[in-house]
Amino acid sequence: MNKKITILGIESSCDETAASIIQEENGKIKILSNIVSSQFDIHKEFGGVVPELAARAHVEKIDLITEKAISESKINLSDIDAVATTAGPGLIVCLTVGLNFGKTIAASLDKPFIAVNHLEGHAISPMLNTDLKFPYLLLLISGGHTQYLSVEDLGKYKRLGTTIDDALGEAYDKTAKIIGIEFPGGPKIEKYAEKGDKNKFELPKPILNKGGCNVSFAGLKTAILRVQSKIKTEQDKFDLAASFQKTIEEILVEKTKKAFEIYLSENKNLRKTFVVAGGVAANKGIKEKLLEVCEKNKFECLFPDISLCSDNAAMIALVGLEKYKKKIFNKLNYNVNPRWQLDETAKFLKGAGVKI
Ligand code: KG4
Ligand code: ZN
Repeated sequence: MNKKITILGIESSCDETAASIIQEENGKIKILSNIVSSQFDIHKEFGGVVPELAARAHVEKIDLITEKAISESKINLSDIDAVATTAGPGLIVCLTVGLNFGKTIAASLDKPFIAVNHLEGHAISPMLNTDLKFPYLLLLISGGHTQYLSVEDLGKYKRLGTTIDDALGEAYDKTAKIIGIEFPGGPKIEKYAEKGDKNKFELPKPILNKGGCNVSFAGLKTAILRVQSKIKTEQDKFDLAASFQKTIEEILVEKTKKAFEIYLSENKNLRKTFVVAGGVAANKGIKEKLLEVCEKNKFECLFPDISLCSDNAAMIALVGLEKYKKKIFNKLNYNVNPRWQLDETAKFLKGAGVKI
């Protein structure tokens, strides 16, 4: 007999308070509810996330958001088989709010508690809308992380490349800030870019032909600061956004080709599947270009549904579901892990003097 498995997921690693109920029955996963409360209005006047304000907002919202997720899903509390909560990486004060809340619910329901790596949530998120199976090559592009990883199985990641300075989402947000677009500017840069001339400004593509599939974006920000004085009209802003978007697309195309080579040299007989996940995976221009590279190189290319690219708790519940099936549970004294990496053996590659 096939039992339904119902998981409550909770997410509070940065500036989104989120809760979701997902359910698996006969191998099919359904999202019964997926509630996200973003804190854009709280942080926009500071141009970035203020950890203490974010944590306070999580405290104020988390029970309401979770109640809403449960009522919208139409399940009873007693139907929940396990509680999955993000334990890292992220802002320590924010993670603590969700983790303590999740542990309390698990304890009060007397159900297993599962600590989830937020990045693993992004990494396997397309399993919610496609029939993605392990193993595969992953490009994770979010506000805090940019990595190419060989994903062997749940919990088994090998980093092939990473950013040596800024994350891609960070590069989008910083560029937006220089242009004068409100935080978080990533999604708006894409809109501006649609109206601009992508060949107007020549921007650098750092370490394009070296460092394997490692990437670097800090030089781009410096170059944008340099041309900032030439930005006078709205059209100039559109042109700079378009030039930035084009440069990022070109960098990702080249580095993805390199990542394919490295991945295949290590895994000759594997299925050629490429997954792009994280907040920046919502960018249509990037998606289009990466789909083209995949087609040329005969890789199947999968993205999460656009609603599941940025931070949400359905992807946290999904990791919870996979861990539940393997009976990987955590004790209630499990602590937050603000620097939790997917490949804990990978070297730290940031800062001056780093050899790539
Ligand atoms: O995955 P995510 O929601 O949070 C982290 O875990 O970091 O990613 C957020 C990042 C932000 O930097 C945001 O500006 C960027 O993703 N982002 C985008 C787009 N949508 C979100 N960047 C470029 N184009 C977009 N359409
Ligand atoms: Zn994220």
